[in-house]
Amino acid sequence: MSQRKIFVTTALPYANGNFHIGHIMEYIQADTWVRAQRMQGNAVNFVGADDAHGAPIMIAAEKAGKTPQQFVADIAAGRKQYLDGFHIAFDNWSNTDSPENHELSKQIYLDLKKAGFIETRTIEQFFDPEKNMFLPDRFIKGECPKCHAKDQYGDNCEVCGAVYAPTDLVNPFSALSGAKPELRTSEHFFFKLSDPRAVEFLKEWTQNGQHVQPEVAAKVKEWFGVRTNPDGTTSEGLDDWDISRDAPYFGIEIPDAPGKYFYVWLDAPVGYLASLKNLLNQRGEDFDAYMADPNQYHFIGKDIVTFHTLFWPAMLKFSGRKTPTKICVHGFLTVNNGQKMSKSRGTGLDPLKYLALKMNPEWLRYYLGAKLNGKNEDIDFTAEDFMLRVNADLIGKYVNIASRAAGFIFKRFEGKLGQISEDGQALLEALRAQKDAVVAAYEARDTARAAREIMLLCDKVNSYVDANKPWELAKQEGMDARLQDVCSTCIEAFRLLTVYLKPMLPAVAAQVEAFLKIDALQFADADRLLGAGHAIGKYEHLMQRVVPEQLESLFEPPAAPEPEAVKPGGEEIAPTITIDNFAKIDLRIAKIVECKAVEGSTKLLQLTLDVGEGKTRNVFSGIASMYKPEQLQGKLTVMVANLAPRKMKFGISEGMVLAARHADSKVDAGIYVLEPFPGAQPGMRIG
Ligand code: MSP
Ligand code: ZN
Repeated sequence: MSQRKIFVTTALPYANGNFHIGHIMEYIQADTWVRAQRMQGNAVNFVGADDAHGAPIMIAAEKAGKTPQQFVADIAAGRKQYLDGFHIAFDNWSNTDSPENHELSKQIYLDLKKAGFIETRTIEQFFDPEKNMFLPDRFIKGECPKCHAKDQYGDNCEVCGAVYAPTDLVNPFSALSGAKPELRTSEHFFFKLSDPRAVEFLKEWTQNGQHVQPEVAAKVKEWFGVRTNPDGTTSEGLDDWDISRDAPYFGIEIPDAPGKYFYVWLDAPVGYLASLKNLLNQRGEDFDAYMADPNQYHFIGKDIVTFHTLFWPAMLKFSGRKTPTKICVHGFLTVNNGQKMSKSRGTGLDPLKYLALKMNPEWLRYYLGAKLNGKNEDIDFTAEDFMLRVNADLIGKYVNIASRAAGFIFKRFEGKLGQISEDGQALLEALRAQKDAVVAAYEARDTARAAREIMLLCDKVNSYVDANKPWELAKQEGMDARLQDVCSTCIEAFRLLTVYLKPMLPAVAAQVEAFLKIDALQFADADRLLGAGHAIGKYEHLMQRVVPEQLESLFEPPAAPEPEAVKPGGEEIAPTITIDNFAKIDLRIAKIVECKAVEGSTKLLQLTLDVGEGKTRNVFSGIASMYKPEQLQGKLTVMVANLAPRKMKFGISEGMVLAARHADSKVDAGIYVLEPFPGAQPGMRIG
């Protein structure tokens, strides 16, 4: 087969959180497929990027006190440790706020507009009058119109499951400010998917058996049929797609439409092309030439099928571009018996903790590979199942073959392989005969089948070892040639098995290549043997087994964080003092006989206080932001009567009035003058 040029992507993760194990599964699946392609001699560009835009990221950034760009960059900086850790080898990682994406998204939009697929329409939407922005559905809450459960989201009720429009909510409020949202009109841009050209194209594209799995095609077919809308009306065919959002929005501005931005899902898939373009630019290759005839594969989860089987192919098609070769849809990963995993947080299995515990990343690659079958079914990571599977297959069946044979070759035959007799040749032939089946399984992303076939081959080799017992041959006189024959067969077999496992176990394969002293293995290497006389190196242990303690640590709930020291009013309670210390402060009831504004100061009020001394005192107090002078005049309060007088810009202050305030001046909680219960008289001491 001649070399194919292939462009592969995984879904672009939202840049508002770290990777969770569901993301890692997708990348492992795609990476395994890419490696299998490269082992066939195909030239692959494998790219990813962060999905940077949209209201949720803009709001999260604001909360974190960062610009959206900085917020996204900080998330992006954390990506590498996951990808390197699990041997996921993207050729490039960009983000959708890149110059390439701004340019390409606008160009695709303009091409769609030229082809007559863009329309504007005025719609009504909830607007937050405090935040001064239109609210995405997710940020509108209220009472469910059906069951009247409180605090439900704008699109559906989590209590009764009803689906509705945000405008149906009873007593809606903005989840951002709490304000009552107002209905306002706004002009929005639509991509006319209802256009018969689009419907016809998408029906053919999704149903011709070439671009999506059958189970996905069946699901998509339903979307073309008659359906009932939330408001009870019915529609047929496809609805137009609202592709614009109003400022403030973190996104790409729509050409010639100030204050209007592309909805994040418009520019997100364009990010695939933008990341590729960014890569090709770095290499000095021509993007347009590359895109003239791409084999384009997108790996995604089942939750984002609409975007990838309708919107994205239609965007490409009607902007005059090549459409994807395949959309490869996987199901969801759950952990320890289907614990529901939140899309944004994930649960249970923290990928970085896995790595920190020095658990072998290739255990996970193999385990997930052995479960994924190319369909969009959900799979479960179960701790016990993981341990049994990895230990039985990788250690018990695969690694075992090398560890049983390599030592004899190295010690007894100077590392050299010998002649292989007929029974060994037959075994190796049986292994080689499976090459096409294994390659086909990888191509179909049916790594479960690949793993099954390979383990059956391992079983064959282990039966051969058990039948020939090299450890006994080694003790017998005159059996040297047979020992070398049997062990050489094992090493050749081990090499073939390594070829087959390499897409799932790239690091183990690299170790094997070093120990066998051979070049990087390709699938074509299964068609030949090392042959007699080839010298191998010393065998070093290839892989440890999984031990229960590791899994226990992995799933041990993180230690509860130290309860943060409570800081009443923003500061901790001061160190303990004795009553004698306290007695040093002479607190007295004071009458505010006069209160005036201080000219030249917005902060201070000037108080004249009577503390029963037969004369008054002058005190300046920083309370002008809270009280008008007439509010205080005539009232009783508390003052520190034995504080040393202090010279201030406006005069001498002879004491201090007590007032309460929050420790952090940024927390604008006000300042409150103390007032005694009725009955207290000026001059009374407080204690
Ligand atoms: N930003 C969009 C994708 C834009 S593509 C142009 C998005 N991001 S995501 O971070 O929510 O999801 C990224 C990918 O991770 C999706 O393919 C999604 O299906 C996948 N997964 C998220 N949780 C998952 C599991 N629990 N299991 C497997 N994959 C899951 O959607
Ligand atoms: Zn309800």
